[in-house]
Amino acid sequence: MFSLLLVFVSVGLLTWVFTADGNAWKHGRNQRGRASIPGPRGLPVFGSLLSLSCGLAHRTLASMASTLGATQLMAFSLGSTPVVVSSDPHIAREILTSPHSLTVRLNNLQKCSCSAGLLRTIASSHLFAPKRIAAHESGRQLDCATMLQGIMNEQSKNGAVLLRMHLQAASLNNIMGSVFGKRYNVARESHEFNFSDYLPSLSYFYDPFCINQRCAALVPRVRSLVRGIIEEHQICESDKVSDNADFVDVLLSLDGEVKLQEDDMIAVLWEMIFRGTDTTALLTEWVMTELAMNPDIQAKLQQELDKLVGDKGVTDADMVNLPYLQSVIKDTLRIHPPGPLLSWARLSTSDVQLSNNMLIPAHTTAMVNMWAITYDPMVWEDPLVFKPERFMEKVGGENVDVRGNDLRQAPFGAGSRVCPGKNLGMVTVSLWVANLVQHFYWVPNPEKPVDFSEVLKLSCEIKNPLSVVAVHRNVLPL
Ligand code: HEM
Repeated sequence: MFSLLLVFVSVGLLTWVFTADGNAWKHGRNQRGRASIPGPRGLPVFGSLLSLSCGLAHRTLASMASTLGATQLMAFSLGSTPVVVSSDPHIAREILTSPHSLTVRLNNLQKCSCSAGLLRTIASSHLFAPKRIAAHESGRQLDCATMLQGIMNEQSKNGAVLLRMHLQAASLNNIMGSVFGKRYNVARESHEFNFSDYLPSLSYFYDPFCINQRCAALVPRVRSLVRGIIEEHQICESDKVSDNADFVDVLLSLDGEVKLQEDDMIAVLWEMIFRGTDTTALLTEWVMTELAMNPDIQAKLQQELDKLVGDKGVTDADMVNLPYLQSVIKDTLRIHPPGPLLSWARLSTSDVQLSNNMLIPAHTTAMVNMWAITYDPMVWEDPLVFKPERFMEKVGGENVDVRGNDLRQAPFGAGSRVCPGKNLGMVTVSLWVANLVQHFYWVPNPEKPVDFSEVLKLSCEIKNPLSVVAVHRNVLPL
């Protein structure tokens, strides 16, 4: 019995010792191409799971890849799951835009029986069509005005502002308005329902090992909430859907091949709320953190707004004339991407041959470490420095497209699963940052110094919410 156990343990140990990338890569799975995929050995059974579950996964993976000379592609095991990650813009492009071999594993909240292609068509032609985004401007302006007033009140009451709760309230209301056509008073909502029960990230939840379990518990509640809202819309359904219709009305109006079943409609609607709320608020908070800590850049932005917008309210139409504002947001996305690891749930359905002679075997989870790319000194000069000028052509920078066409900076992903809300997200963040900077000077709160530490929840956010002093500029009345 003892010798049997000894043989078993020895075989296990030998397998581990000779399997470079961990258990999930045994039998030479990493050597199927002309070049093999390097990677850490990891622990028996766990692979690299433990090293990635403590600390920030994007930073840990970047440092592992750099140590092992595996930035193009690194193979590792998460338990028995084989994973590859790329920290290189060229290989990243091949992974994200691979036409037929990569798909997405859906979690419990996102179960949707319709094809990814159909969802893409519905998103680009109907939900996020430019005319619809434009028609929702009045909602963005309304939520922004409420946010500015709330900031003003908190500043006079407390002498400083915790920006995150204002941004989260505005963002949630804005997405609810676009998706359900309803705005809520978040502060008084407790009688009806508690938003943080439905959007776990709003209650600062971080529980990576229970995400699916928590999502599964949410499903029936989310279904009944969204079904109720759909029924309300069905009662007052009209024949013609206007440009500023909410997403429920738009989906209900679809016919023929693009018509969705009710369960699919619920999945799509909730996915928009789930993905759109947090990212918009967090990105704005990161922008404002950088501006508070870089008074010269903040002053330059205020000059641009004063010169090109003057003492009228900013509108979406002004955005094309505000290149510095766009560059501030782009460099924030570079230095603090809300989704630092792209496509963590993308699975290869067949072998993917890469141009560097490596081969990603079928059934491998393939992801891109966007954070590693945007911090790579070979890709970006002075990557640690917040420098919006790098995107300004007028001063020798490069106007890089951040919407998925240039993998040196693709904070919304790229390829078939690129973020469908990217234009809405950019328009909203631009409008809100412009308003925040037009109305106030932002000064760090000496009692709560700014701390750039990150925490990776559903998105990567600033660990200690930003507390700032908002000094009213009197350029415009509130
Ligand atoms: C404002 C900042 C935003 C950022 C930085 C952002 C970023 C991202 C990223 C990185 C992904 C994953 C791409 C991948 O894995 O390859 C994603 C997916 C997604 N985003 Fe956004 N997003 C933002 C706003 C929004 C908004 C406003 C909405 C909707 C109202 C939205 C809806 C979605 C959806 C539905 C997906 C899943 C797409 C799929 O799986 O096919 N996002 N987003």
